Amino acid sequence: MRLKSTADRYGTVAAAIHWLSAALVLGLLVSGFRAAGMVDPTAKAGLLRIHAVVGGTVLVLTLARMAWWLFADHRPGDPAGMTRLQARAARAVHLLFYVVLIGMAASGIGMLALSGAASILFAGATGTLPDFTAYLPRYPHGLGAFLLVALVLAHVAAALYHQFVMRDRLLARMSIH
Ligand code: HEM
Repeated sequence: MRLKSTADRYGTVAAAIHWLSAALVLGLLVSGFRAAGMVDPTAKAGLLRIHAVVGGTVLVLTLARMAWWLFADHRPGDPAGMTRLQARAARAVHLLFYVVLIGMAASGIGMLALSGAASILFAGATGTLPDFTAYLPRYPHGLGAFLLVALVLAHVAAALYHQFVMRDRLLARMSIH
């Protein structure tokens, strides 16, 4: 097991954070869109409780990942054969992931704090869940969700293009070993 990355592949810590974050973010997209469309207040509260905890976990993982890159590890170089434009696009998508994930977590926390839903979900307070659209952070949270879907699609499409069209075994760089 190699904890840190090398010039041509990601280390175990970076790869583990990557795949764990990917699974949790997919769960957040599904649970968020489902919760937003729910009418049964008990089921909605149950789903939002999980959604908020997983969202907080993704925030911690994202900050941990930033600290890991800043203080402990260096990214591998770009895969061979990438054009300058492809390398720039990849960097922009990766940077936007950080911005959007932190924005989603901040706006989610903001929604619960401003609306008083945090005490209903987590402190046993009685009352009905608020209409979140009455609170400003609901709008960046909704917009960010769609931006995140677009980023995930672009990211997955680029990885598959490398793997199956360029045949450069890109996915092996991010395997947990
Ligand atoms: C960090 C990543 C997060 C992602 C990817 C995410 C994703 C989503 C998505 C896709 C929606 C539905 C948006 C829509 O239909 O327009 C949503 C709604 C929501 N999320 Fe998150 N979320 C995250 C973090 C959080 C956190 C940390 C909290 C709370 C602490 C939270 C609380 C909520 C609430 C209250 C709603 C609104 C449900 C409604 O409108 O009825 N989210 N989220």
